[in-house]
Amino acid sequence: AMRNELNRMINEVENPKAKKVFDAEMQSFFILFNRYLAEKAKGEKIVWDKCIAAGPDLIKPYAELKKSVNPTLLDKLVVLKLNGGLGTSMGMGGAPKSAIEVREGMTFLDLCVRQIEHLNEEFNVNVPFILMNSFNTDGETQRIIQKYANHNIQILTFNQSRFPRVGRETLLPVPRSPVSDKSMWYPPGHGDIYDALSNSGLLDQLIAAGKEYIFVSNVDNLGAVVDLNIYQHMIDSQAEFIMELTDKTKADVKGGTLVQYEGNVRLLEVAQVPSEHIEDFKSIKKFNTFNTNNLWMNLKAIKRVMENDELLLDIIVNNKIADSGEAVIQLETAVGAAIKHFRGAHGVNVPRSRFLPVKSTSDLLLITSDLYTLEHGTLVMNPARMFGQTPVIKLGDSFKKIANFQKRFRTVPNILELDHLTVAGDVWFGRNITLRGTVIIVATDNARIDLPDGSILENKLVSGNISI
Ligand code: UTP
Repeated sequence: AMRNELNRMINEVENPKAKKVFDAEMQSFFILFNRYLAEKAKGEKIVWDKCIAAGPDLIKPYAELKKSVNPTLLDKLVVLKLNGGLGTSMGMGGAPKSAIEVREGMTFLDLCVRQIEHLNEEFNVNVPFILMNSFNTDGETQRIIQKYANHNIQILTFNQSRFPRVGRETLLPVPRSPVSDKSMWYPPGHGDIYDALSNSGLLDQLIAAGKEYIFVSNVDNLGAVVDLNIYQHMIDSQAEFIMELTDKTKADVKGGTLVQYEGNVRLLEVAQVPSEHIEDFKSIKKFNTFNTNNLWMNLKAIKRVMENDELLLDIIVNNKIADSGEAVIQLETAVGAAIKHFRGAHGVNVPRSRFLPVKSTSDLLLITSDLYTLEHGTLVMNPARMFGQTPVIKLGDSFKKIANFQKRFRTVPNILELDHLTVAGDVWFGRNITLRGTVIIVATDNARIDLPDGSILENKLVSGNISI
């Protein structure tokens, strides 16, 4: 029934070029869907006892890498940012997360461009900057990057696939036509990069242009700059795939981790772990590093994996409720899961500074604050910060959406000496507020707390309906 529905939709497309693209997408989707059904029928789960935490042979400490000296190799590198996600958890209301202004009026996208421009100037090279967009993010992204048309930087974009959501009961596509509303489709996770790079023709173009390596990372991770030591290590070790991992803290227990499984290196995600072993998975002792999604890959190796039809990425089932109230599923994949297909693949344990993700407005508060300064698009931690550790920030639901976050902080508070901040309820921050030590601000029930301009709160608990 699924096949018939997809065929019917493919036949509806009249423009031959559009039909070809849509057809390729639906073929990829159908393969993923069938794998999902087969796995569901078999009830296949990972065998926990076969998961062996990756040891020092598979995860090399960054400090042990040779200090690189050869920037001429940069001619063979391209840098790609994953920019297909919407940042739904921050309530972006349809705009890409990378369009958020982070500092000095610059968005994530602008800062990524600065980083590449700086790399190119410093070493007198011309590393291209590639964005993988989706049908959700392409429009706004193009609008932001058009100002670089006259800059001396090559920016390439391509779109990832658009897959139909599936009814959980019916197991049929939710959209009835190729032009059905946007909300009925989804970008199938960053694991789609392999299909999308191949289908767009960009993979072949890059190889033809003499490019050999690609550095991939999340667009919201401003710590993911090109690192010559890691790049050199990739070339010297001839690994086809390198995953950057970083030390796990109690705040990162859900991150994917590298394991040895039946003799192969594999990325193990929390979603794959049998429920009775979740606590083992989260343990910081057993799995002490996690995937930053900063990945280095060999382009020809990607081409080989695609040509051999080997790519079998673990399926992530994302359950959602559609606007109509119907329970739907999205079948997604993750880019790092492909590590098992590459020769010599291994991890490098990098400093935390290479992983500065923005998944929530609490993360956004950190990177927009005085804790960092900007240098050529890169966030550098203020040297006055003791021990180089970031404070733990927990903003409540009233701060969860980006628009509310921006309204509730007149200006970003000074947090250089902050260790821990918890805010809950109807709380409003005036201008130029300083927070130090542990600060907890809780407005209960109908109470509202207004923190006046210039307040200094040090090791303070503010609760109830108080004005200070
Ligand atoms: P995440 O899966 O962590 O999601 O994406 P997100 O977009 O940050 O946030 P939510 O879950 O929607 O709130 C990590 C990176 O992968 C990209 C995102 O743009 C982000 O840079 N991504 C995600 C894609 O490029 N395509 C996708 O289909 C999904």
